[in-house]
Amino acid sequence: MKFIDLFAGLGGFHTGFSNSGFECVFACEIDSDLRALYKSNYGIEPYGDVTKIAAKDIPNHDVLCAGFPCQPFSLAGKKKGADCPSSGMLIDDIVRIAAHHKPKFVVMENVPNILTIANGTFWEYIVSSFESIGYVIEHKVISPVEIGIPQNRKRIFVVASRNSVVKTQSYWPTTIQDSEVANLRDFLDSTLEHKPLEHKKKILLAVWQNLLDNCTLPLKGAFSIVAPEFGANYPLEFGSLTLEQMKQYRGAYGESLAACTSWTDVLKKMPSYAQKNKKVSDWIISSVQQSREIYSSNKDYLDMWIGQLEKNYNSWQILEWRGKLGEYNIYSHLIQFRASGIRVLKPEIAPSLIAMTPTQIPVIPSENRYMSKAEAAKLQFLHTLPNIPDNTPRAFKALGNAVNAKIVELIANNLRHSLATYQAANAT
Ligand SMILES: C[S@@+](CC[C@H](N)C(=O)[O-])C[C@H]1O[C@@H](n2cnc3c(N)ncnc32)[C@H](O)[C@@H]1O
Repeated sequence: MKFIDLFAGLGGFHTGFSNSGFECVFACEIDSDLRALYKSNYGIEPYGDVTKIAAKDIPNHDVLCAGFPCQPFSLAGKKKGADCPSSGMLIDDIVRIAAHHKPKFVVMENVPNILTIANGTFWEYIVSSFESIGYVIEHKVISPVEIGIPQNRKRIFVVASRNSVVKTQSYWPTTIQDSEVANLRDFLDSTLEHKPLEHKKKILLAVWQNLLDNCTLPLKGAFSIVAPEFGANYPLEFGSLTLEQMKQYRGAYGESLAACTSWTDVLKKMPSYAQKNKKVSDWIISSVQQSREIYSSNKDYLDMWIGQLEKNYNSWQILEWRGKLGEYNIYSHLIQFRASGIRVLKPEIAPSLIAMTPTQIPVIPSENRYMSKAEAAKLQFLHTLPNIPDNTPRAFKALGNAVNAKIVELIANNLRHSLATYQAANAT
């Protein structure tokens, strides 16, 4: 049973389908570094841009795999999706190749919001395009945690099956109980090559831990502490106030605004998220209120603590607690240094590895280090690859772009069953 791997990337589809016993007969990938890597890992030289490949030049296959990019989207310029503003309908190339080769299955993966972008018109377009060439579409949102791998990563899996194929069983993997999910701890291996946490960030975490150890905190699973609110009392919506009225308040870290002679002076003493005439989000409003409450019940300690905190980076002044309820120990959690703040996450399950921002590589604070490439590869079930990019940001980008190979393997196993039945029926 043969498959092709369009938009091949690191080869999550390749690994999954090969593990299930399929043979890859063609791949394409536009990025030349990824092409070279694919060749070194799988012994197949991928072609380049899919839009330039004539369908007749692709060998016959039973399954067409396509992890197409969350792409720019436009329906001939008519119904432009707000999220995907420009050209490049790569889905059309998948349909073009499927129409020519008529594989029994087309398997695709993407982010779940392809169901809703452009008010659902993109998804309707995908479904109707495949129906028009003789396929039935099924989809399911699946995350690796549902099959036992400790990574939260919801992705939509789409199986288009030819009308002539008789479905012998569900195409989707059997999901498991929460208790059967492996603990991230079992996936971590500090002996593998990894990047240590920078000294400044170690100090920063220790300072935040001091706060957690010494303050009365809300008993909630999720809250954010916004340090600039300690001592502040300015109204969040201050756009309609006069300068004289504003001068009665205190800005970030309780700095008095009394001596300000202009709004420019005032804004210099305000937290970055509080700007004149800017609508503040509900999230900021509730975090600000909570932070002011924390300050008023721990004032003496926090007046001393403020001096310890590094103020050069806005995001270091916000702690986003998404960890365990009431167990306020950073070192028994996972951390991400996000643009919005320092996010503390439950330690058992890794957050989604994402391609766009290698800065969000999870940190294991108890070991003063970042997650390694090898550990991330394991979370994508791509740890058997002989080669991943040497460069850490590139490796995390490619791993974050990849499809989870174990989910693919389980789907491939189910398709294989239907394919075998189809082939047996057509042989007689
Ligand atoms: C979401 S990633 C898919 C990753 C892949 N499924 C994996 O497991 O690694 C999309 C890939 O499509 C590639 N790509 C984008 N435009 C392309 C095109 N026109 N032709 C071929 N590949 C393309 C990107 O370089 C990227 O590696």
